[in-house]
Amino acid sequence: MTESSPSSPPSILLIISGGIAAYKSLELIRLLKKTGTTVRVILTKGGAQFVTPLSVSALSEHAVYTDLWSLKDESEMGHIRLSREADLIVVAPASANLIAKMVHGIADDLASTTLLASNKPIIVSPAMNPEMWTKSSTQRNIALLKEDGVHIISPTIGEMACGETGPGRMPEALEIFNVIQNFLIKEKPLSGKKALVTSGPTFEPIDPVRYIGNRSSGKQGHAIAAELERQGASVTLISGPVSLPDPAHIKTIRVETAECMKNAVLENLPADIFVGAAAVADWRIENQTAQKIKKRTGSPTLDLKLTENPDILQIISNLPNRPQLVIGFAAETHDVLNFARAKLLKKGCDWIIANQVGTDENPVFGSDRNQVTLVTHTLTEDWPVASKTTVAKMLVQKIIEELRNHEQPSCHNRSA
Ligand code: PMT
Repeated sequence: MTESSPSSPPSILLIISGGIAAYKSLELIRLLKKTGTTVRVILTKGGAQFVTPLSVSALSEHAVYTDLWSLKDESEMGHIRLSREADLIVVAPASANLIAKMVHGIADDLASTTLLASNKPIIVSPAMNPEMWTKSSTQRNIALLKEDGVHIISPTIGEMACGETGPGRMPEALEIFNVIQNFLIKEKPLSGKKALVTSGPTFEPIDPVRYIGNRSSGKQGHAIAAELERQGASVTLISGPVSLPDPAHIKTIRVETAECMKNAVLENLPADIFVGAAAVADWRIENQTAQKIKKRTGSPTLDLKLTENPDILQIISNLPNRPQLVIGFAAETHDVLNFARAKLLKKGCDWIIANQVGTDENPVFGSDRNQVTLVTHTLTEDWPVASKTTVAKMLVQKIIEELRNHEQPSCHNRSA
């Protein structure tokens, strides 16, 4: 059994616009980096008057992005990717000018274009002279940004660099850092939840060189583990032998046989969510040999005695401290829905994701695409043919809805 390491660091796109408070953003980068956060920075022309690209780049340990029209920047990481790869965009300091551009959808430089193209949550920390801050135009713009769902960190009152006193100071880096941390925790719907996922085949040895296995590639199970992790769950993936790399930031335990998979699952309970996507061998060889079986002259057949493996899904479903949501898969060549419903009842899980194996449109095993049907105790829902990543996203959205509808304390708070 081998293990690899856990927990994905968040990724933040920090936009530094023109203002003396830009120096505080250097400290903000340092604080974020200390927690392992990935920080990429866009520095506006104004921002670059106050802090240098070199210091930003040294602290963030990444290239600094400054120019919408830079062939180099766009080829390394274009403005769309910059926003897509971040969990959160933070504009600090946000000048009155950049705020006005955000409100009106003006996209005339890298920062404003990235903000307009963004599909991520945005935190804005305005910093400006008190007259500029209290001006009705700025206050109107702030109200509109709030209406658009942008989170505003109110500026504090104090003496400004220009010598005037009043509201408009950007809070200290630590305060902005704390807002970001709280925001990141709330943003991920599965934060605080623990998920266990099985994936891939199991190999049941016949002798030291041969085994009984199946065609599962692990693509579906690994995609589900990755999506659960992306939505904030702390995920343990228990994988049979696959050629896929261990997913980044997920604790991955590699096993070979059904027995080892069962033990690894039990050792990693309690959990809030269990997804059994592995194609676990139903049988193992009872008369497994310690030495390689040799061909025997005059004996063209070989008898292998099979014995049933433990049913991991059934065991988990019936434990007293079972996860709140137990999901199994059913891979069938025919009569898919009937078998899926029978499995739901027999094993005692909450949902079965049924997929028909072996059709030209849906070979399932090893393929990048899948067509599944969600079978619960109350509904049957056909999902369209989609990539396994999309199936994983749809399943995880269903999981999030289900947990929201039956809110319970997370397994970390329950006594095991
Ligand atoms: O890995 P891929 O190439 O991406 O393919 C994905 C997949 C086809 C493997 C996946 O989508 C899938 O259907 N997985 C379950 C396959 C399977 O073994 O189905 P089953 O009908 O034999 O088992 C039903 C359920 O019981 C499954 O959740 C299985 O994990 C579980 N089981 C089965 C036997 C056993 N001894 N223990 C179990 O826990």
